[in-house]
Amino acid sequence: MSDKISEGIKKEIEKLVKELNYHCYRYYVLDSPVVSDEEYDSLYLKLKELEKKYNYILPDSPTQRIGAPPLYKFEKVKHTEPMLSLDNAFSYDDVNEFDRRVKRLMRSEGDIEYTVEPKYDGLAIELTYRKGLFYRASTRGDGYEGEDVTQNIRTIKSIPLKIEAHDEIPDEIDIRGEVYMDIDEFEKLNREREQKGEPVFANPRNAAAGSVRQLDPSITASRKLHIACYGIGAVKGMDFKSQWQLIKWFEKARFAVPAFIKSVKGIDNVVNVIKEIEERRMTFSFETDGAVIKVNDFELQRILGAKTREPRWAIAYKFPAHQGTTRIKEIIASVGRTGVITPVAMLEPVRIGGVTVSRSTLHNWDEIERKDIRIGDTVVVERAGDVIPHVVMVIKEKRTGKERAFPIPDRCPDCGSKVVREEGEVAARCISLHCPAQVQEKIIHFVSRGGMDIEGLGEKNVELLYSKGLIKHFSDIYQLHMHKEDLLGLPRFGEKSAQNLIDAIEKSRRATLSRFLFAIGILHVGEYSSKLLARNFRVLEALYYIEKEKILEIKQIGDKIAASVAAFFSDEKNIETLKSLELELTNPDFVLSKKSDMLLEGLSFVITGTLAKSRKEVEDLIESNGGHVSKSVSAGTNYLIFGEEPGSKLQKARSLGVKTVSYEELLEMVGERTGKR
Ligand code: IVH
Repeated sequence: MSDKISEGIKKEIEKLVKELNYHCYRYYVLDSPVVSDEEYDSLYLKLKELEKKYNYILPDSPTQRIGAPPLYKFEKVKHTEPMLSLDNAFSYDDVNEFDRRVKRLMRSEGDIEYTVEPKYDGLAIELTYRKGLFYRASTRGDGYEGEDVTQNIRTIKSIPLKIEAHDEIPDEIDIRGEVYMDIDEFEKLNREREQKGEPVFANPRNAAAGSVRQLDPSITASRKLHIACYGIGAVKGMDFKSQWQLIKWFEKARFAVPAFIKSVKGIDNVVNVIKEIEERRMTFSFETDGAVIKVNDFELQRILGAKTREPRWAIAYKFPAHQGTTRIKEIIASVGRTGVITPVAMLEPVRIGGVTVSRSTLHNWDEIERKDIRIGDTVVVERAGDVIPHVVMVIKEKRTGKERAFPIPDRCPDCGSKVVREEGEVAARCISLHCPAQVQEKIIHFVSRGGMDIEGLGEKNVELLYSKGLIKHFSDIYQLHMHKEDLLGLPRFGEKSAQNLIDAIEKSRRATLSRFLFAIGILHVGEYSSKLLARNFRVLEALYYIEKEKILEIKQIGDKIAASVAAFFSDEKNIETLKSLELELTNPDFVLSKKSDMLLEGLSFVITGTLAKSRKEVEDLIESNGGHVSKSVSAGTNYLIFGEEPGSKLQKARSLGVKTVSYEELLEMVGERTGKR
């Protein structure tokens, strides 16, 4: 039951929603926040509490962006106005021809006014607003019918849930824009996927499209997507005169617009603007492969009309791919932050599109084989978009017979550990815990929430402490309490935050074995596999030099994970590192999980309601004692642990005859009493 709401509280909630939406706009659209993240979070929390207490939730509340349940499939959506595609121009001649055609059709001699903006490489989305409220989002599909991706698009924080801050609001409007992922974000996402053994995205466009076409909106929410609004479909109750006016309206209504747009008269000026965009493209945070030229005036656009798929009033100029010819002097193996070893060609320097290129990635050994690339070869190199230059092809006619192949190295060039290449995988990797190329990334994972969960040691602070030499390796984390003075000298650290960090580190010494196994970041080993390993092997030592077959005895673990675990624990240096780390862990649970008499072994638990400890802590307690936690109650459930406001699970458990126990009773079951810990 919610408390009765007064006008005063309503006003307060409305004010908070407005304020938070404004801060979102400052942060995500303008990239110029006026409050700190902490201030934002505390306002957000306050709103969430009030909403819960009074059950009063506004449709544009920022809390409504997340939390929608996964779908089974996307519904179809018919576009009121078709979403067209664009004709391409590959040269300035083509651009001039486009202008001549426009003039011919308009029977006009005078200069036409055009807008020029970058062509975003993402996916086209239509946002429908009704009475100013975000109503629906759909993909382009075949241009006439797309898919309803509302729940996913709602998670993009730069998209207003309500059009305000504007005196002119149409009754209904279809806004079109490109949803995209920044290049940095794309690279970061791929690094993470690689680390987890998931396939990487080929380019930012695929990453954006893959993120939007997710049935589970929480996955979309975890990807940092942006939008650039560049057009409209059907509009009711308002009249836009030109592309320029539309963009100005977008800006005022707080929609994100293309990072660059100019309106000019005459095609010569258009060409100059295209050149300007090409010069600037390296400074853009997103990938662009061209410029879009549009007749500015909407009335002229209407007269010009469209062919079946493309309008006659717009064209996309594609930047030429920059290519050059040079010779591969040497090939080196380079270790990335996630351990993947990439072959890199060292080139005789060559100027391509105004930039000197002397290195080029060869991606992986499959690619080397496919293109038959050898040291000494003469090759065509391309610098496409903003991505790193790559070798397009070998000019085999130029071979002298002295060229040499470059096989996968046996040892990691950075740490000398054995290189592993799994069956069916393209990547060759170094899986050593002490490899200097990877250690920083590994530490970030080690301390992360799913791992040792050291609060206050996020990515930025790990980088900071690493750069200052305070953490060079995992075990250095546990020496930090002796370096409090050094911590105090660092930016972002005061007495309180330094002590909090030290306390959080101390607390992490009590991590369970499964958390620890997850934290050390064995390739393909996620939280679930870590739990299975912990439950079955119980002590870390049991995994040292383990054979793959032994791991395969766990029925839920497949070949890929087993091979990875075995490879990891066959590395002597890894074991050395683990042994020194284990000395730092004083956790009774870690010890407890070494006991052979797991008290909850084989029992299945479901948790409901609010307990004295967080859900995660209770799960850890159950699992470290051999129990298993599932989400829903069934006849196979042994115990339901219930707290305050237990919900429907309690009834279901009772009706199925499942035993129901309190958190205190659970503590007794595992031999602990309330207040003891
Ligand atoms: S205008 C009929 N403007 O390019 C006009 N499109 O190749 C069509 N695109 O489907 C859209 N940036 O997904 C326009 N600044 C921009 C664009 C842009 C990227 C995409 C859009 C379109 C595709 C056509």
